[in-house]
Amino acid sequence: MLIVKVHVQNINDAAFTCDALILPVPEDNGAALCKDVDKPLGGLISSVIASGEFTGKHNETCLLHTADKIKPERVLLIGLGKRKNLTRDKLRQAGGKAVSYLINLKMKDLAVSTSVTSSPGHSPLSFIEGCLLADYGYMKYKKEENHKGLEKITLLTGEDLNEQLRWTETVVSASHLARDLVNAPSNEMTPSALVRVARSLKKASVKVIGRKEAEKLGMGAYVAVAKGSNEPPAFIVITYKGKNTKPVALVGKSITFDSGGISLKPSEGMEKMKYDMAGGAAVLGIIKAASEMKMPVHLIGILPAAENLPGGSASKPGDVVKALGGKSIEIISTDAEGRLAVADAIDYAKRFRPSAIIDIATLTGACSIALGHEAMAMMGNDEALMEKMKKASEETSERVWQMPIFEEYKDYIKSDIADMKNTSGRSGSLVSSACFLSEFAGDTPWIHLDIAGTAWTDKDRPYIPKGATGIGVRLLLNFLKQL
Ligand code: BES
Ligand code: MN
Ligand code: ZN
Repeated sequence: MLIVKVHVQNINDAAFTCDALILPVPEDNGAALCKDVDKPLGGLISSVIASGEFTGKHNETCLLHTADKIKPERVLLIGLGKRKNLTRDKLRQAGGKAVSYLINLKMKDLAVSTSVTSSPGHSPLSFIEGCLLADYGYMKYKKEENHKGLEKITLLTGEDLNEQLRWTETVVSASHLARDLVNAPSNEMTPSALVRVARSLKKASVKVIGRKEAEKLGMGAYVAVAKGSNEPPAFIVITYKGKNTKPVALVGKSITFDSGGISLKPSEGMEKMKYDMAGGAAVLGIIKAASEMKMPVHLIGILPAAENLPGGSASKPGDVVKALGGKSIEIISTDAEGRLAVADAIDYAKRFRPSAIIDIATLTGACSIALGHEAMAMMGNDEALMEKMKKASEETSERVWQMPIFEEYKDYIKSDIADMKNTSGRSGSLVSSACFLSEFAGDTPWIHLDIAGTAWTDKDRPYIPKGATGIGVRLLLNFLKQL
């Protein structure tokens, strides 16, 4: 879905014509802060605050009609909570909450007051980011589109925010692309469809390795995943070179549907396994944004795309396959397919001599058992690199939480007949999957992000509507910006 462009106007809040003016109001001293609007409204805001109908608690809303007293037809008060507790994410959430509220009422043309959010220590950009992230719906298959979204949004400020706004818009539109790809059903979003998306990205070059060639190259782990489906797999390699340096490799798990294969998943909830390509979708979004912003980075995106089905030629539990580097793997569960595909992709990434490999994958159900939907699990072999990721995570609130890869986990994936096996049962399956991948990263600085718990949401969140979240795009773009 396309995002609206943010306009900027240096004009008094009360003088701007629009369907609704969004007015962020803190819990303390709120009325005084919006006196420029309150006064011409004859003290309407002061009175809803005095009566306790609106207190300014975080994400609280109150819609007022202005009856021609000022130019905006309506004013939406949105609570920010106590000023001393205000964070970037609280601003982002408030922006998201306000916009979803107004979209529900079919408002099209909004303005955002910055009288409070541009106070010292805060920027209206987080608020606007929340607004834009909330303006999303996946309506492709609905006859009657019930999410038309915004037509115009204007930030009322005298500050020159153009450059930062452009970054925000680009990042949000990349998140929206990732959401679109993940929300699309698997009969549409096949490996070949991912290839088409990759090829549509400007200023990036794309190479696709098909089934035959992958076999010939020795990607036995990846190929094993695709064997049970008639859908042709596609190992996609995208290069964006915005600077002449060692690349950062971004590997995104791209299982376009994960039925579990012969180790079939229960049918309840299986429809959601279309989101097993959320890692790949994030990588496509990141490369789109990086090239649009002409970021001075060198990126290699790798999407080992395949469909995991239990067809007549599917891999079976007990099969032994040989991965790219020559290691043999006993497939205990065909449902632990992600690490097979990602292992070959990580190994392949090393051919580019990257300064770092970041993989992002909906790898384990255990990830959401451990952290719920509030953070992705991060594991890796380079503490300094992970510190940088934590910093990017704090800024974007796409949270990461570090988990260990203890030496002992190697025992978990010891096979009796091969170099390793692909699962070790339930105990420690979040960390043992990372331990499995670490064998393929070797000495290259590497981070693994498990997004199984965060790539999809079953309920609306302040700036993330139900469905695909687009997770990873904002985090990794921020991470790359810092590098
Ligand atoms: N794609 C799944 C992980 C997953 C589960 C993602 C739920 C999102 C929501 C992955 O391929 C998988 O099936 N993992 C298994 C591994 C097990 C067989 C060791 C799991 O976590 O159950
Ligand atoms: Mn699986
Ligand atoms: Zn999977």
